[in-house]
Amino acid sequence: MDKPKVVLGVSGGIAAYKACELLRRLTESGHEVRVVPTASALHFVGAATWSALSGHPVSTEVWDDVHEVPHVRTGQHADLVVVAPATADMLAKAAHGLADDLLTNTLLTARCPVVFAPAMHTEMWEHPATRDNVATLRARGAVVIEPAVGRLTGVDTGKGRLPDPGEIFEVCRRVLARGVTVPDLRGRHVVISAGGTREPLDPVRFLGNRSSGKQGYALARTAAARGARVTLIAANSALPDPAGVDLVSVGTAVELREAVLRAAADADAVVMAAAVADFRPAAYAAGKIKKKDGQEPEPVTLVRNPDILAEISGDRVRSGQVIVGFAAETDDVLANGRAKLKRKGCDLLVVNEVGEHKTFGRDESEAVVLGADGSETPVAYGPKETLAETVWDLVAERLG
Ligand code: CTP
Repeated sequence: MDKPKVVLGVSGGIAAYKACELLRRLTESGHEVRVVPTASALHFVGAATWSALSGHPVSTEVWDDVHEVPHVRTGQHADLVVVAPATADMLAKAAHGLADDLLTNTLLTARCPVVFAPAMHTEMWEHPATRDNVATLRARGAVVIEPAVGRLTGVDTGKGRLPDPGEIFEVCRRVLARGVTVPDLRGRHVVISAGGTREPLDPVRFLGNRSSGKQGYALARTAAARGARVTLIAANSALPDPAGVDLVSVGTAVELREAVLRAAADADAVVMAAAVADFRPAAYAAGKIKKKDGQEPEPVTLVRNPDILAEISGDRVRSGQVIVGFAAETDDVLANGRAKLKRKGCDLLVVNEVGEHKTFGRDESEAVVLGADGSETPVAYGPKETLAETVWDLVAERLG
């Protein structure tokens, strides 16, 4: 089989050096990569580096090898174009269809999926001109990854960093695997809860669970690659931040509830993949609880936590909002799942069979997705990303 053909466009920002790592990931995972830098990008990383890492000659202009008509061919033959970093200038050119070098020509002739990974100072990202250009590109079907928040060039900190190259690679991999030029969740806001809540007993101890957050993170990654604006509410997960996702970190079920209610106000879909503690200790000891010689420990009294899934399913804040829950069951999996779907009032319930060696912390899972309309969609044992894609297929169908 031919290797998938990727054009890596690099525009002139300091983050160009991070694109070398993205290039390596793409070539090492079996992609044929043509690097098309802009002339400004070469101020940051030279042509020799791009050429050596990609194994192909590198040009910025349409005037080299004219007999091969590179300004048309490069884009026509690509399975994916990814521009990383994409500067404010590059987004403006792409939005307006300018074609004054090889990369901008390539963007006009490509009929494959296109991913932009912007990187710039916060002021430039927030400027109405850039906002409009990003909206135009997204409306046309491009996946524009939200920049990460953190240290920028110089002393500034804010939104505008190029996301981790490994995470940009994950977006490219998902977009290539789907192969569609217009992502079906574009313009949608989806909220995902992930991980497991921790309910503190004292400053050093908590009641927790074994959820790793992998399923929720897979849902966030796949939704971003399908063009959605993603809010990921993560409870105690140690996983790397997915690219292009607004991350909200929480600890307890009560904090998770607040974050979910806030984000759900304008969400098209909410997926509750987090393992939320049903109970929390009734009292929190401000100092560490000490053992006392000759005395039995005090019993721990628990109180119920709010049921977030039932609450958001009951008080729908937006009409047409799709709400998805997860259920971990050990026995009578389908019967318990059906009863839970009804009790919670959600639209879809992903039912996992759990046990000592199943689901928690693993990269794979097996599930059945039950619909409130009576549908049953089995998902065979496989990567959590496959289950995530099925969930989004079912959500997209319901969003219409
Ligand atoms: N959930 C929630 N708020 C809670 C508990 C759970 O929103 N306080 C959500 C979870 O995120 C998940 C679903 O509800 O989407 C799981 O429901 P739950 O009743 O907790 O199922 P199990 O953990 O399987 O528990 P049980 O069988 O004890 O009811």
